[in-house]
Amino acid sequence: MVSENKPAGSRILSGMRSSGSLHLGHYHGVLKNWLKLQHEYECYFFVADWHALTTNYDDTSKLEEQMWSMVIDWLAVGINPKVATVFVQSRVPEHAELLLLLSMITPLGWLERVPTYKEQQEKLKEKDLATYGFLGYPLLQAADILMYKADAVPVGDDQVAHVELTREIARRFNYVCGREPDFELKAKRAIRKLGGEKQRIYQDALTKYQERGDADALAAGQAMIEAHPNLTVADRERLLGYIEGSGRTILVEPQALLTEVPKLPGLDGQKMSKSYGNTISLREDTDVVAKNIKKMPTDPARVRRSDPGDPEKCPVWEFHKIYSDKQRQEWVQTGCRTAGIGCIDCKKPVIDAVIAELEPIQARAAELEANPDMVRSIVTEGSERARDTARETMDEVRQAMGLRYR
Ligand code: TRP
Ligand code: SF4
Repeated sequence: MVSENKPAGSRILSGMRSSGSLHLGHYHGVLKNWLKLQHEYECYFFVADWHALTTNYDDTSKLEEQMWSMVIDWLAVGINPKVATVFVQSRVPEHAELLLLLSMITPLGWLERVPTYKEQQEKLKEKDLATYGFLGYPLLQAADILMYKADAVPVGDDQVAHVELTREIARRFNYVCGREPDFELKAKRAIRKLGGEKQRIYQDALTKYQERGDADALAAGQAMIEAHPNLTVADRERLLGYIEGSGRTILVEPQALLTEVPKLPGLDGQKMSKSYGNTISLREDTDVVAKNIKKMPTDPARVRRSDPGDPEKCPVWEFHKIYSDKQRQEWVQTGCRTAGIGCIDCKKPVIDAVIAELEPIQARAAELEANPDMVRSIVTEGSERARDTARETMDEVRQAMGLRYR
């Protein structure tokens, strides 16, 4: 749904693998950004349940529960299904068809070279990830993105390589499939028609750009074609498309939208992650939250209450950076460095702020849990809406691949 004040045509898509319940790291790192984006752009947010299967295919017993729980968490923090399209990947089976068709034009090496492929295999050694599905993980992600012709994809830096691959896939698809029959032949004929000096300039620009990515050469070639006084419209299009290495644009190359957010570390100061057991889950009982923050490690130099400390060496300070105003931050800085405050005093306002943040989220989550039909219909409606867009793209893709039989 596009509202009045969203720039027309700028579309954002992002997804999350369904995995256990979301935590404050997700909230500060991802969801708060989505909350802002949903008012500025046409947004599609989806649960990547097939992506969850690529690594968890051997135990699917929690898949459904995790899917609903993720949707509830999104809605509880304020993702608004009236302004953003919220859906579930497997409810839009067109994603699988696009994945299949894209697989035809995807060189194996491109997938094998995606850094997360080897990294995750190393990290999850206990699992057999030498599967076709896991190798295809980033291609499925590319299909997710290209399906909606998204201009921008908000992701963390671990996902930038996937967006980069998506761009390459779009380019290759447009190049291989986005052209009229005999495109190559007709383009070559148009080059010959240029004749003499112009033909030489074009050929030179073509080689420099396509072999070395020389952008100046591309610009020079394009300028020459644009300024050419007597080219047919069709030949001009062909020559411009041919030099860029594209035919017609069917799939749109997306940009990665890196979010500059202050990182909230986990309770032990490392990155907040379920695998480190250092999370504050959005649905965590608030007494447990208080207890866990009280147990947080602090600057190891503060052995006794009278020892001064350094907030830069303390994860609690990272929490203050997010939860405290300037005045309280100064209170921490001075109090810590002069041993004017104790660590228990220092943690108290953090505990209060985290709980104040969680309470309304938990109240909304409880309400949603009590109304499963409502959540179900939000997902059904969102998935239908997503499917309408997906069908349009698939029509074009099928046609480009010679599959639109009459
Ligand atoms: N791979 C992403 C993650 O690990 C999830 C994802 C799947 C995604 N498809 C996407 C993210 C498309 C952005 C766009 O969280
Ligand atoms: Fe950390 Fe605060 Fe203790 Fe300083 S006073 S070590 S910032 S908890």
